[in-house]
Amino acid sequence: MNFHILTLFPEMVMGGLNTSITGRAMEKGLISVEAINIRDYSHDKHRHVDDAPYGGGAGMVMQPGPVCEAYEDLCGRLGKKPRVIYMTPQGKVFNQKIAQELAEEEDLVFLCGHYEGIDERALELICTDYLSIGDYVLTGGELPAMVMIDCISRLVPGVLNNEVSAEVESFHDNLLEYPQYTRPEIFRDMAVPPVLLTGHHKNIEEWRRKQSIKRTLERRPDLLEGAVLSKKERKYLEELLAEDSETDRQEMKE
Ligand code: ADE
Repeated sequence: MNFHILTLFPEMVMGGLNTSITGRAMEKGLISVEAINIRDYSHDKHRHVDDAPYGGGAGMVMQPGPVCEAYEDLCGRLGKKPRVIYMTPQGKVFNQKIAQELAEEEDLVFLCGHYEGIDERALELICTDYLSIGDYVLTGGELPAMVMIDCISRLVPGVLNNEVSAEVESFHDNLLEYPQYTRPEIFRDMAVPPVLLTGHHKNIEEWRRKQSIKRTLERRPDLLEGAVLSKKERKYLEELLAEDSETDRQEMKE
């Protein structure tokens, strides 16, 4: 998987992604990350890449020429035209399913805007996808690109040490992950749930599934609609819901 980031701040993205698991994946050659400095394609001697918006208004807009030329240069080198994802709060909100779909690509381009954004004509010419990381506005697309690259990288075979964890973690089956514990067995009077010390794999698996269901109900009930539950698990969920409405009734009385 090769990530190409079109940005005005190459050191920001490289500094972040060179670290930890993505950094190791780069060393191992499982992924590659290159930051292409849009400023290198500036048309003037002061290396400007932005100008005032036509029609007036605050801020500056990134000019179309340097953005398109940076992309075209990359396409020439690669001998193909990879997907270009524009980081924008106006895009579809990124999620695990989109990450899985993008992880199938060989090359991906992340276009990071700054200031008031990028001239619409450049976006029309080169962008294939518009993605956001959430309903809030950041100063630029670099952090969203790093978020997405981190998330997609961990789905590339070999990037995580244990292959199963990419699947089992939060959002697999639309359920949140169960709580985890490690040594010591007792910490500040708090004991590890006894079932985890039994070595009884079937009981542990059942306990973990129940914890996942309980946690998803408490923290992200919106996910449960898409969860695949066995008959027994559905019954457990119904019990939890019944307990909740009983608590609500008690609270109403008080
Ligand atoms: N650029 C600025 N804010 C953003 C967001 N929330 N997601 C993606 N790109 C952005």
